[in-house]
Amino acid sequence: MTAKLIDGLALSKTLRAEVATRAAALTARGHQPGLAVVLVGDNPASEVYVRNKIKACEDNGIHSSYDRYPATLSEAELLARIDALNRDPKIHGILVQLPLPSHIDSHKVIEAIAPEKDVDGFHVANAGALMTGKPLFRPCTPYGVMKMFEANGIDLRGANAVVIGRSNIVGKPMALLLLEAGATVTICHSKTRDLAAHARAADVIVAATGRRNLVTADMVKPGAAVIDVGMNRDDAGKLCGDVDFAGVSAVAGHITPVPGGVGPMTITMLLVNTIEAAERSAA
Ligand code: GUN
Repeated sequence: MTAKLIDGLALSKTLRAEVATRAAALTARGHQPGLAVVLVGDNPASEVYVRNKIKACEDNGIHSSYDRYPATLSEAELLARIDALNRDPKIHGILVQLPLPSHIDSHKVIEAIAPEKDVDGFHVANAGALMTGKPLFRPCTPYGVMKMFEANGIDLRGANAVVIGRSNIVGKPMALLLLEAGATVTICHSKTRDLAAHARAADVIVAATGRRNLVTADMVKPGAAVIDVGMNRDDAGKLCGDVDFAGVSAVAGHITPVPGGVGPMTITMLLVNTIEAAERSAA
């Protein structure tokens, strides 16, 4: 292996210690930060994510509330709950875990969250403000990836960056953050004609597709930084990303592991956003 490992666990530990310090300072002033987590249905992956988010809050001095609803919850009931959380002064951040059951319009739900409590950064006001450079919150996964570039001295100015995936949660905001940092950005997706050619020209690759082994060594320029946002299972049920780690780590300059890469950073940036929200509300 020649690539330097980008250790998301170690960076998370450092950033979470800063979160805990800021949470303690707020609590001492009578403003303990609070995150409301809402889960509808019984998607097993969502249950794990939500559990990890709540545990991370507990470990770092952030109060959390957890509403767990059956998949039969109506859209109106969910909107009513969000309205109550918007008004709750103990709650500074609201996270509705996605995906929602198909009878609920997730756009409507996201737009119901008060933008100043939208710690996911998914509300149209925050997504639009990200486009113009001044969001209240940056979406957690791409924000965490930017912290990984920064902490590892990866210079993005003028770099060719290829984002694979165009979701509202990762691909699109990732591209905007890279652009803001001065990269020349290409967004590739399932309809892209020659993904390998785009990838081979990249100094930075961010893979966020949910397709195991999509990025292979022959697609990576020697020395490139490869960030793996994928969360997949291999045939043995083991967690793996979108990148063929063994092959690509022989070519890349930097690489993130799965697990222990982007995953912990997503939760860390959720904590950071929640602290920011609480600090603004206490100011
Ligand atoms: N589902 C997958 N990723 C996320 C995320 O970052 N936030 C929420 N709310 N749901 C998700």
